[in-house]
Amino acid sequence: MTTTEGTHSRPVGDGASEDWGPSLLPGSEEYLEDPRHYGIEHGAPWPEDVPHGQNDMHWRYDDDPRGARRAELRVAACWTVTLLCGIGLAWVYVAGGQTQVEGGLFALGFGGLGVGFVLWARDLLPGHDVIASRGGLTHASEESDRRLAVQSLGRGLEPMARRPFLAKMLGGVLTVFGISLLFPLASLGPAVDGQFAVTAWRRGIRAVNEDGDPVRPGDIEANGILTVFPNTGEDPGSPAMAQSSVVLINLASAPFEVRPDRKDWHIGAVGSQSCIVGFSKICTHAGCPVSLYNWSAHELICPCHQSTFRVLEDCKPIFGPAPRNLAQLPLAVDDEGYIIARSDFNEPVGPGYWNRPIRVNPNTGAAVEYS
Ligand code: FES
Repeated sequence: MTTTEGTHSRPVGDGASEDWGPSLLPGSEEYLEDPRHYGIEHGAPWPEDVPHGQNDMHWRYDDDPRGARRAELRVAACWTVTLLCGIGLAWVYVAGGQTQVEGGLFALGFGGLGVGFVLWARDLLPGHDVIASRGGLTHASEESDRRLAVQSLGRGLEPMARRPFLAKMLGGVLTVFGISLLFPLASLGPAVDGQFAVTAWRRGIRAVNEDGDPVRPGDIEANGILTVFPNTGEDPGSPAMAQSSVVLINLASAPFEVRPDRKDWHIGAVGSQSCIVGFSKICTHAGCPVSLYNWSAHELICPCHQSTFRVLEDCKPIFGPAPRNLAQLPLAVDDEGYIIARSDFNEPVGPGYWNRPIRVNPNTGAAVEYS
């Protein structure tokens, strides 16, 4: 139903409106010709854009039961497609999944559902466009309007009750298709528990570059950066190593603010030509690798959404959506002059989702407690 703002107000609570509704049989000639049926004041001329005299009790196949039956079967056929797609989706998923096939089944399933609804509305539900004056906007609905609305709703429900087969089938199809849509939830995998709270860094583990070669402080030029990984024997380029990736930064003589509880986490004296610090490369917004370094401002920038971290202030975010600092890795140099970790990070790396009360044993990296 559409409404239009007309110049005619609907009947107000006078004596005439008391007869409104129950005394008029919907679909009767009297009902259809009464302007109040269209929200037009009694006796007012019909606006040009308000059709009248239409029988909204009319069905497309009112006089053709066989045609109605065929229409019903067409709707049922569409929903059968949806039903089969739901079963197919479940089967494909259990059989190992195939993204393109699953996408096609989703599309076909929703398409069948939609086309079925359209056919049902076109062939089996009564109706036509009804345009009524909006009336005054400053007062509540008249009792007569409310009765009309209830009558209209009743007329809309009746044709649905006429087709119990379709109603039951729709319930079954929605149940099966709905359940099949839940299957992908299994792809969310097991609960992550504390596995994202630790990385592969441990006390004494050497930092290696992407070729697997151990790194010395002198390998990082002044104002340069280098991405390193823990030397665990795993391929540094493997996905398992991504969470442990660290960016080493040679701050040269920049005035890095050392936190009192992190006095020995950097290599070289602050202010010297080769002060090296290490921070997690995983952005605390959505986990992209923070790989751009503006050495003149000492800022690390995430290319995904431009979060910017000020290195000299403990890599705190100064721009963009990242909610917290990049985690700092405690560094040292071993007897052979290679860069090592003093421990794992002492906080979770990566997106702020993990930013909740947590405690990690920095020596073992294994004990994780959520409070
Ligand atoms: S992932 Fe880094 S800013 Fe969004």
